[in-house]
Amino acid sequence: MSERPKPRVTVIGLGRMGIPIASAFLDAGYPTTVWNRTAAKADALIAQGASRAATATEAVAASQLVIVPLLDHHTVREALASAAPALRGRTLVNLANSTPDHARELAAWAEEHGADYLDGAMMALPETVATPEGFFLYSGSQPAFTAYRRELEVMAPAHYFGTDPGAAEVHDLALLGAGYAALTGFLHAAALLDSMGTTPEVFAPLAARWLHGMAEFLPELAREAGSATYRDGVSTVDLNRAAVDSLIQLSRASGIATDVHEPLKALLDSRSSDGHGQDSFSSVFELLRSSPGSHEG
Ligand SMILES: NC(=O)c1ccc[n+]([C@@H]2O[C@H](COP(=O)([O-])OP(=O)(O)OC[C@H]3O[C@@H](n4cnc5c(N)ncnc54)[C@H](OP(=O)(O)O)[C@@H]3O)[C@@H](O)[C@H]2O)c1
Repeated sequence: MSERPKPRVTVIGLGRMGIPIASAFLDAGYPTTVWNRTAAKADALIAQGASRAATATEAVAASQLVIVPLLDHHTVREALASAAPALRGRTLVNLANSTPDHARELAAWAEEHGADYLDGAMMALPETVATPEGFFLYSGSQPAFTAYRRELEVMAPAHYFGTDPGAAEVHDLALLGAGYAALTGFLHAAALLDSMGTTPEVFAPLAARWLHGMAEFLPELAREAGSATYRDGVSTVDLNRAAVDSLIQLSRASGIATDVHEPLKALLDSRSSDGHGQDSFSSVFELLRSSPGSHEG
């Protein structure tokens, strides 16, 4: 069976992410139309073979698949407002950072104007677009995701999280939250060691090795939390409570902020005083979820 021809793709928004995205489509042989508020940012892409649209409306009209890596929700609404009549029959892929509610609002707006809508979150940096390191999250129209999966994979490996248009943003924020906790933990550790003469640069490779090992522990943590089975873990609440307490004491004695670990200490104290000191560390999950204790075995 012959492969379906490559459809024309439009990229609206040529910032740090939009330029490598449009470039990846050109490299992959897709006829590509681009539009950006500051037109000069398209010049290198035009030299690479892209077609320049004079307006956002012209850009939307040019392709069935319209990809929008603009700055944020408000920018997308503003840039696409006048292009709404051209949206009918198109698939709009909004890659701007957004809240789940804004994604749902935009999906309803796109549907009102006869377009299929996919919301996307880019777990990538400009330099990891179209490389195996980056990945993008999507939610919204299932038919659109299925129809255009091949095109979406030109930008990054694509993961789909269901028809709720807000779901990709929820996953994005959850991943950011996990990342922030790890990175803030690293910065605390770097401050502590810096106060003792080990520079952050020297410490970084050791921390990377340790955090890599921690990541391998995630499936076990997930199994315990997912099944609310906290009795057979080797790393108990009380054991970790003592370790976190020592860390806070050392931080205090070294003149280092204790803000990063106080909330964790409070969670562990709470589990312990509720009689769960011998449960696995992962049982902190029960305090974090919306209905504490409702699924415990
Ligand atoms: N950069 C990253 O590392 C990264 C990583 C993952 C996700 N993201 C997300 O990707 C999205 C794009 O980020 P970026 O880094 O590419 O941003 P950026 O470099 O600042 O580019 C912003 C884009 O939005 C356009 N824009 C801003 N205000 C506008 C307006 N009022 N009307 C029309 N166009 C407007 C800019 O046009 P002009 O060129 O005319 O200013 C430009 O095309 C953001 O939602 C960001 O959170 C970024």
